[in-house]
Amino acid sequence: RQNERESLLIVLNFAKTFFQETLQTSDEGKSIGLCYFRERGFTNPTIEAFELGYTLDQWDSLLKEGQRRGYSQELLEKAGLILSKEGGKVFDRFRGRVMFPIHNVSGRVIAFGARILKTDKNQPKYLNSPETAVYHKSQVLYGIFQAKQAIRQEDVCYLTEGYTDVISLHQAGIKNVVASSGTSLTTEQIKLIARFTPNVTILYDGDAAGIKAALRGLDMVLEEGLNLKLLLLPDGEDPDSYVHKVGADAFKTHIKEHSQDFIDFKASRWLTEAGDNPLKRAEGISDVCASITKIPDPLKRQTLSQRVAQVFHVSEQSVISEINRLVRKQQ
Ligand code: CTP
Ligand code: MN
Ligand code: MN
Ligand code: MN
Ligand code: MN
Repeated sequence: RQNERESLLIVLNFAKTFFQETLQTSDEGKSIGLCYFRERGFTNPTIEAFELGYTLDQWDSLLKEGQRRGYSQELLEKAGLILSKEGGKVFDRFRGRVMFPIHNVSGRVIAFGARILKTDKNQPKYLNSPETAVYHKSQVLYGIFQAKQAIRQEDVCYLTEGYTDVISLHQAGIKNVVASSGTSLTTEQIKLIARFTPNVTILYDGDAAGIKAALRGLDMVLEEGLNLKLLLLPDGEDPDSYVHKVGADAFKTHIKEHSQDFIDFKASRWLTEAGDNPLKRAEGISDVCASITKIPDPLKRQTLSQRVAQVFHVSEQSVISEINRLVRKQQ
């Protein structure tokens, strides 16, 4: 088992280096891949820090080079790098894409995300490695290796949706940032953050999908006992586009001024929607209370019920009894 894991890590590292070389030295890599990264504003040190690469638009460039280096077809397949179809046809999984290696906490490559260059309705924008013996999607946070030191230092982790959000913020000097990479946030991912800080700020895209994901992630972060703030980017923006638009300083100011704790985040949405409608307001109070019941620390729950009462202009006693009702319902 241990041997197989190590073999997989070695072949994945070979693939990473091959994709880097392809990006930096092949004509196609330079004219298409590097050009793409330049257009996105990525500098050389950034490309180096995230070990970005390119894979040729061919069926078997990695397969051929891998076999030439003595890696078996079986190993390449177990690493998720090649596909074999019935009838014996074997080919590279990733073709004609820019490559984002995914590192584990100690910096070893365990998988890849691969982005298409031009939008194409018939192809997914990102192709990702399948689950393998070394890659369990639900346990990984993109960028954790590059971010962990800064997360400790700043004592907060910014949680974004995507690869390029992590990269662009890092380049702007905001290095305490990771991505859940489009999957809905998992308990394992939150526990990974908790190794470095008890403070999380969710910075999701300002679209319907981002809001939905933030609301789901919110309860999970609370359940793990972490402190949470949230910030949605303006509609249509994500951290990558927004930091390029306004610059690092304005981005930091924006986070400071607009991140909300979960009560304000939820309450402001409910209060806008409810207006004078008392039933809607009650629904909102109940919804915020439901999140509070996720928090393991009873003392924290107590303090927060005071806040809810203030925000919704109701008595603290009514908030506490709603929380108790919800707790009983869960049991
Ligand atoms: N994602 C994925 N497969 C897709 C689309 C998205 O795995 N077909 C994941 C990627 O990790 C991506 C994240 O979900 O980074 C967020 O998706 P999205 O916001 O659509 O992409 P961006 O990260 O903004 O990518 P880009 O800026 O390159 O368009
Ligand atoms: Mn998105
Ligand atoms: Mn999007
Ligand atoms: Mn984006
Ligand atoms: Mn995005």
